[in-house]
Amino acid sequence: MVAVGPDDAAERAAWLEALACAIDQNSYCLGSAVDTFEARCRERLQVPHAIGMNSGTDAIRLGLQASGIGAGDSVVVPAYSFFATASSVAHLGAKPLFVDVDPTTGLINIPAANAALEAGAHGVIPVHLYGQGVAMDELMPTATRCDAVVIEDSAQSFGVAYRGRTLGTIGHAGAYSFYPTKNLGAAGDAGLAVSRHETIAAAMRSLRVHGDAGGYDHRTLGWNARMDGFQAAILTVKLDRLAAIEKAREQNVESYLAALEASDLLERVRPLARTPGSGHCWHQFIVTIEERDIVRKALTKAGIGSGLYYPGILPTQTAFADLGHTADEFPAASGLAATALALPIHHRLAESDPARVVEVLAKALG
Ligand SMILES: Cc1ncc(COP(=O)(O)O)c(C=O)c1O
Repeated sequence: MVAVGPDDAAERAAWLEALACAIDQNSYCLGSAVDTFEARCRERLQVPHAIGMNSGTDAIRLGLQASGIGAGDSVVVPAYSFFATASSVAHLGAKPLFVDVDPTTGLINIPAANAALEAGAHGVIPVHLYGQGVAMDELMPTATRCDAVVIEDSAQSFGVAYRGRTLGTIGHAGAYSFYPTKNLGAAGDAGLAVSRHETIAAAMRSLRVHGDAGGYDHRTLGWNARMDGFQAAILTVKLDRLAAIEKAREQNVESYLAALEASDLLERVRPLARTPGSGHCWHQFIVTIEERDIVRKALTKAGIGSGLYYPGILPTQTAFADLGHTADEFPAASGLAATALALPIHHRLAESDPARVVEVLAKALG
């Protein structure tokens, strides 16, 4: 795992002070530390309701459930994402309706998603993968016309703007993950759900504590999805550092692009395309390389870490075997599973690291 702890002694001290404060306020499960973090997120994300969760997975599942998705429904999901995007649907007794992705961006294929909505799907989960947004302007009109639920999986794209709005706040609900490797990472598991809709937000707040409507009056089957006060305390500290972290990541991307261009490698080491109108927080810097596995071995040999996000596609996971899918139904997703490589992008990289990585790539590619 990449380094995820405090960046320096000053940040470590700030974490400890925030934890001491949470202890003094008796803020362990929800409580004042979570209230503070939620308020900061409402302001940062420009959304009226922000609900601290135990994980990004909880935030997706509760968003779906609070928006009315349940047994027998079908929800359009991209074939290429983290498992939780699809498992959240299945856990509610609904069916993930997989569609392929766009081979150039890795994001959900919007014409395919719109066709599935037109054909009667009850919802869709656009995944803002790697840190940039799905072109929501091309998805929302169909979803709205078809009265379909839209839950944005923004697990990897906290705070990113799409045409003047924040990703996660455009559909019925949005979900963020603060898993430690995320740009805004906790010191354990944590997540956040957001919504512009009062009724959906109220339902998510109740579902987060076993469907309690107050005073142990349980009106729905909810979950234990509460955010931990310690995580909220640390996340509040880290929120102030996020802009600097993202600037460093963006700088790394610029260095990669310059080095790839200078080495004349951009035909063979292809960065994913950008969505017009979307910002990017560079949770991952993904390139596609036909000789990916050879190149990856060379990086490992040179002591350079790289990642596969993701080595397999969702529809053919054993957990979904009953759906009977095959890889050739999803050529773009399968192609990315075979060629996509995440290069080191961490904000603590040395200035010269991207050029060094590209040097190793160039050598490996001959
Ligand atoms: C795209 C995507 N969706 C959902 C999740 C689930 O978030 P969490 O790990 O916080 O449950 C993640 C986290 O890795 C993710 O990357």
